[in-house]
Amino acid sequence: MTNTLNKELNVFIDKVKDNHGGEKFMIETHGCQMNEHDSDKIKWLMESMGFVSTEDEKEADYIIINTCSVRHSAEDKVIGRLGRLKHLKKTKKDLRVGVCGCMMQRKVSRDFVLEKFPFVDLIFGTNNIYRLPQLILASDEDNDVHVEIEESYSNLDNKLRTNITNNQSAYINIMYGCNNFCTYCIVPYTRGREVSRELEDILDEAKALVEDGVKEIILLGQNVNSYGKSLDNPISFAELLRALHEIEGLERINYMTSHPKDISDDLINCYKDLPKLANYLHLPVQSGSNRVLKLMNRHYTREDYFEIIDKVRKIRPDIALSTDIMVGFPDETEEDFLDTLDLVKRVEYDNAFTFLYSKREGTRAYDMENQIPKEVKSERFNRLLETVYGIQNKKNQKLVGTEQMVLIEGQSKNNPEKMTGRTDTFKLVHMPYDESKIGTMVKVRIQSANTFSLEGDLIDIEK
Ligand code: SAH
Ligand code: SF4
Ligand code: F3S
Repeated sequence: MTNTLNKELNVFIDKVKDNHGGEKFMIETHGCQMNEHDSDKIKWLMESMGFVSTEDEKEADYIIINTCSVRHSAEDKVIGRLGRLKHLKKTKKDLRVGVCGCMMQRKVSRDFVLEKFPFVDLIFGTNNIYRLPQLILASDEDNDVHVEIEESYSNLDNKLRTNITNNQSAYINIMYGCNNFCTYCIVPYTRGREVSRELEDILDEAKALVEDGVKEIILLGQNVNSYGKSLDNPISFAELLRALHEIEGLERINYMTSHPKDISDDLINCYKDLPKLANYLHLPVQSGSNRVLKLMNRHYTREDYFEIIDKVRKIRPDIALSTDIMVGFPDETEEDFLDTLDLVKRVEYDNAFTFLYSKREGTRAYDMENQIPKEVKSERFNRLLETVYGIQNKKNQKLVGTEQMVLIEGQSKNNPEKMTGRTDTFKLVHMPYDESKIGTMVKVRIQSANTFSLEGDLIDIEK
């Protein structure tokens, strides 16, 4: 893909290349798709600077950890990892360690890392990935830690690209940050206020990706439904989808995440008008109790949620639905939890991401009364999981014998004789390996199913 970085950045890239060309780097990614996509940008930037990617920490000259703050456990994982890196750094004096991502956007976590892990060389945030070349150059001069954080998103970041080789599907950021302030959530404090990218920038990026062979685009934002409201020439998310749909060669459009409070009829109608829009909707519900939804500051009721699902299913009866659900929010009673279980059973999700509520300092729920004891949370969590998996398995079994269009992703990691892909409903399918089909859309007959994936055989006509 063409390098659209501005001239100044290219100068720094070239300087780093002179100093480091051929050295090895490794990136470890925690957290959500936003972070995965950011890591792809970092990888692209590192490769532009002449570094070569490795999976082996022993041969890496640079190790970059892209962190997540969403739950306590996510931060703990990073802290554990940094503890282990301390030993590696002792045996490998020249190793450079960089820490970036959401944890670094949070002052308490950043200060903790600075204090406990003084061997860290580079610290940068989610809004200034493009400063990495300058940070590397600064770090060449001494052994101090170099820290650069930008509170809010800078437009320059728009220019960062990712490498597309053999990738059939690609992420595009359509917006950054979040204004919703759900009372449990740290994201508005790490990713900052909501900013939408210009329509033209998004379309240009999408066209360039499709020219590079990408078949599916996954639009990323914390709340894609409010895309475009703050632009000088405001535009809706539905209008963005319609514009993307026109791109020739693009076969599938997916997006995440949408907020139930902002789903418009215009967006729902896109499921009627836009055949490229995947038959899949991820719509986080968080709780099935109106009382808890209010405490969470979610601005919808379970009745509103059912209404959206009904409308969408009227248009696409076989659409796959997934969600995020949290148990153990402060003051959640057994009755509230039963409301959640009831909602899950009524909606019949194809997939649900389930979480134990985790207290995040700085959020409004942190100081709420009646925090739920760990044992109660875990017990509810297990009941939820059992329900979710039961439904998931039943829905997957129904697909046995059907034909599905599958976008092939590549060789299976666990079994080299198989390849994997995703249906239009985002279900994982394993099929016999056929190298010539990688990156293409193929017809598959589903032969068997379990809770997490499907098995199928190619019917063998490329779409
Ligand atoms: N913007 C997305 C969610 C991003 S965070 C949305 O609104 O849907 C991904 C998921 O993590 C959330 O949907 C929520 O279920 C979960 N989550 C966020 N904060 C949490 C916390 N403090 N404890 C447990 N789970 C949390
Ligand atoms: Fe967090 Fe709510 Fe924003 Fe999602 S919408 S990122 S849960 S504050
Ligand atoms: Fe994502 Fe974690 Fe940040 S969920 S937005 S990487 S806090």
